[in-house]
This record gives sequence, C-alpha cells and structure tokens, in this order.
Amino acid sequence: MDQLMELLRTRRTYRRFEQREISKEIVDEILTAARLASSAANRQPLSYIVIREPEKVADVFAYTRWAGALPPEQGQPKEGERPVLFIAVVENLDINRDCDTDAGLAISNMTLAAWNKGVGSCMIGACDKAALSQMFGLTENQKLHTVVAFGYPSHVSRIVDMESPEEFKYYLDKNRDYVVPKRKLADVVRYL
Ligand SMILES: Cc1cc2nc3c(=O)[nH]c(=O)nc-3n(C[C@H](O)[C@H](O)[C@H](O)COP(=O)(O)O)c2cc1C
Repeated sequence: MDQLMELLRTRRTYRRFEQREISKEIVDEILTAARLASSAANRQPLSYIVIREPEKVADVFAYTRWAGALPPEQGQPKEGERPVLFIAVVENLDINRDCDTDAGLAISNMTLAAWNKGVGSCMIGACDKAALSQMFGLTENQKLHTVVAFGYPSHVSRIVDMESPEEFKYYLDKNRDYVVPKRKLADVVRYL
C-alpha cells in the first residue's frame, strides 16, 4: 500500500494519550497544514487558537465530551491519558458566514499532518461552545467550529468491515483498543 493510503488508513480518532509534549516544530507543521487547505473563493475565513500550557489544556478538557458511543468510564480519557494540546478552529463570519466545509478540510489537513509525525488526534464537536468561546475571548463575529485534541496515542485503533447497516458504533476490544466499523465500499458506492 502506498504511503498516503497507509496514512489515511491509520489516521484514526485517538482518545488516550502519552503525557509527552508535542514539539513547537510539529505544532507549526500542523498549523501550516491548516493554512494550506482549500477554502471557498480562497477567502480563508478560519483562524486557530493553540492551547499548550498544561493548566489551560486542563481548563479546555473540562468542557469536552469524548466517545459518545461508549459509557463515560470507558471513553472519557482519565488523568494520565488526556491530550496535551488543543487547537480551536474559529470561523470568522465577517469573512464568510458559510464555512463549515472549509473547517472540515482544515481539520482533515491538521489531523493528517499530525499523524504523519505520529501524533494522534480527536476532533471534539461535543464541547461546551458557549463556555469555550468566552474562555477564548471570541467576538460576536467569531464562531467556534470545534476543538481538536492532540497527543501521542497510547492505544491502537483499527478498522473493521461493517457487516450490517446498524453496526456503526465503535467499541473497545479486550486490550482497550478502539475498533471502528466502516461501511463496505459496495454499500456506499453506486456507478451510473
Ligand atoms: C464532526 C465530528 C465531530 C466529532 N465529535 C467528537 C466528539 O465530540 N467526541 C469524540 O470523542 N469524538 C468525536 N468525533 C470522532 C468520531 O467519533 C470518529 O471520527 C468516529 O467514531 C470514527 O472514527 P475514526 O475517526 O477513527 O474513523 C467527531 C468526529 C467528527 C467528524
């Protein structure tokens, strides 16, 4: 398998991390990957807030919810497993009000660039956006799209074929590694 496909296959969502700092060089590379992303009309309405100081990371973590498919005692990272970095993705509505796709592309670039350096990630839609927006000092023209958590993973995540349409929930195996069912290609593709 070529390198890009291998990167895409293994760049999964990770939810438990080593307590090891991510270097400034890698953080810069992650942010550069976001900067390089495509954007509608090249307006580039997104900006990024980097949270690296341990106390501030803990403050942000308190407003995040993890692994909705699992009971909290299984999915919520415990002390010693938590991410060491958050990057908040902010939509600047005065530049473009309709930029959720831009944000998705930027997040995809960031998580791939991170994984290329062995850094795992979890994008967190389920966060208290009102509280975080206040913490970040966002203005009324700035909308928090999401926060993305990063760290060196301390577990594995693997994909399995989804055998029935209802079996979309990811789960933990006996090693507490994530297993993520994906719909088979034949179930999602139609040729005209
Ligand atoms: C828009 C979006 C929002 C997400 N929000 C959360 C979240 O709040 N908490 C969480 O633990 N995972 C979150 N995830 C991660 C998904 O649960 C994960 O992508 C999915 O289970 C498939 O796993 P994979 O990324 O390894 O393919 C989110 C993913 C996406 C695309």
